[in-house]
Amino acid sequence: MDWKAQLDPKRLPKHIAIIMDGNGRWAKQQGKPRMLGHERGVHAVREVTEACTEIGIEHLTLYAFSTENWNRPKEEVDALMSLLVSSLRAELNTFLKNKIRLRAVGNLASLPQSCQDELAETMKLTESGDKLELILALSYSSTWEITNATQLIAEKVKSNQLAVNEITPEVFAQHLTTAGIPDPELMIRTSGEVRISNFLLWQLAYAELYFTEVLWPDFGKQELVQAILNYQQRERRFGKTSEQLNDSSNG
Ligand code: FPP
Repeated sequence: MDWKAQLDPKRLPKHIAIIMDGNGRWAKQQGKPRMLGHERGVHAVREVTEACTEIGIEHLTLYAFSTENWNRPKEEVDALMSLLVSSLRAELNTFLKNKIRLRAVGNLASLPQSCQDELAETMKLTESGDKLELILALSYSSTWEITNATQLIAEKVKSNQLAVNEITPEVFAQHLTTAGIPDPELMIRTSGEVRISNFLLWQLAYAELYFTEVLWPDFGKQELVQAILNYQQRERRFGKTSEQLNDSSNG
């Protein structure tokens, strides 16, 4: 049977966000250095991105490097930055072929110049991709993002470009690094950790959360389908009652 045949095409999330966790533990289980786990993590990124284009997901956000990850040993941080640059280079043709548009969110100015340049180049070359928007969260944390948005808004109020009573949830969202991207309906975290870890706190307000024990390097198409199937079984009420939802779907 087709691997995605069980999915209901009418109830797909438009946007899936993933905390890719467990690369280090995967490597440890194999008795290998942590970086091998990250390299295998890139294979999982490729497989999941390809699956999203085949299923018809429109936006995929991957938590690739958090603000807190800067506290890791310098060798691991440097190696992760190099892996990001080499992966972007290696995947460019696949992005173009599959009409994938790359976007990055986070405190991008804090990344090494080589990463900023590679990201800018890849984003420019893929900007016409209209099948899937692949969003990498890099040097990202929600506390940074929300503080940054507040500073941007405060500057506008100070210079009379914005009145205090014009600060609505919609205006606030336009000052987040994710401006213009619809909120994720489904957030997946691998490796058995049951935390949000400073990821998209504003944007996940109504997301369905899915946690799996599978370590990120072992996460692939089948696991993605499992997560979406689980999502499709949930009743999304947005604060309403089940009866209200059933009434509006019947009438
Ligand atoms: C979490 O595993 C993973 C990361 C901090 C980095 C994720 C990076 C990649 C998959 C590679 C580069 C990404 C792209 C998009 C090319 P962990 O190290 O926290 O694992 P552990 O909790 O088992 O130690």
